[in-house]
Amino acid sequence: MKVAILGYGTVGSGVYEVINTNKEIIAKKAGVGLEVAHVLDLRDFPGDPVEKVLTHDINDILNDPEVKVVAEVMGGVGAALRFTRAALEAGKSVCTSNKELVATHGCELMKVALEHGCRYLFEASVGGGIPLIRPIMTALHGDDIVHMKSILNGTTNYILTRMSEAGAGFEESLLEAQQKGYAEADPTADIEGHDAMRKTSILASILEGKYVSCENVHTEGISAVTAADFKYARKLHAGVKLLSVITRENGRVSAMVAPFLVREDNELYGVKGVKNASLICGNAVGDIMFYGSGAGKLPTASAVVADMAEAAQCMAEMSAAKQVPAWTEEPADVVPFDEYKSASLVRVEAADEQAARKSFKEIREVAPSEGEFAFLTSVMTEKDYVKAAEGLNIISRIRTDFVD
Ligand code: HSE
Repeated sequence: MKVAILGYGTVGSGVYEVINTNKEIIAKKAGVGLEVAHVLDLRDFPGDPVEKVLTHDINDILNDPEVKVVAEVMGGVGAALRFTRAALEAGKSVCTSNKELVATHGCELMKVALEHGCRYLFEASVGGGIPLIRPIMTALHGDDIVHMKSILNGTTNYILTRMSEAGAGFEESLLEAQQKGYAEADPTADIEGHDAMRKTSILASILEGKYVSCENVHTEGISAVTAADFKYARKLHAGVKLLSVITRENGRVSAMVAPFLVREDNELYGVKGVKNASLICGNAVGDIMFYGSGAGKLPTASAVVADMAEAAQCMAEMSAAKQVPAWTEEPADVVPFDEYKSASLVRVEAADEQAARKSFKEIREVAPSEGEFAFLTSVMTEKDYVKAAEGLNIISRIRTDFVD
């Protein structure tokens, strides 16, 4: 089956490479081979074998009736949205790693796909090369998934790991992550948690079957995390991780991305460097963990190509119309952020110790506090935390994923 790739950047060139390297294996496993007929990019690539199939015009792809599957790995929500919609309307399945587009327009694009007998698949948009979306949508059908705690951003996990283990600086670790091709073009999306927020929106929407928009994912990044926070974390036998936490209870869902203290006895503690992981709790299966490379050229390409093979199979069998969209546009019933509950490690100025003891009541000091006062709160709602913290000079606050 002829396929096309939109974008020949890090992931696009990975998709081209994986399809060519694993040609026979893919054909054998999927029962249908993939042949790259066009690669769309604005740039030229003199001397690169891609030159033979390179085009600067999307119409070459849209008007080629033999192309049935398209990989959209351009990123962004401008041209990527227009081209995806046009490809689906032309009856071509689209497979993507573009979490921004899936989180914002996924529902609409799944609908267009259904109407035109093709698929919109996005395994690579969450967790890079880790099969995560397909297991949730198929292998765990027998379960009600009650919560999911995940590390979904390789760049920030890389930075936090380097800060924790090598005492490396923030800037230097970010630069390393960028050089290895993990970071987004604008690293703010990684550092401030927006990338993990989009992935959390996608996962929460799949779990609910209704839309959990990015606005409904409370998001905090890692730019305020300091070396001192790691010192206290170590005293508590914990590390600092940027977690995505989705909880489903009583027909409502809560979703957030924020730095958390993760204790050594939690499986997510050992997830180091650029690796991603997801700890899923189902009411029947209990805890299960998915782990692997959440970013990078070939891991992400692996997930895109897996989707392309599935789409190709599906197009060949003409069974797309039987597919159920992952979620509908109906908004999910989202828990207001005020009601979220957690314990926190809080650091205040030494002069505020008595005031903090009074307003937080149940606290556990984390000693020695070195010229400040550090303590663990009991589990409390965000609303109660804000009330208790009022008037105190808070140096930092990091929620914990443990309660004692
Ligand atoms: N910038 C992302 C990360 C790439 O670091 O995880 C994969 O989505």
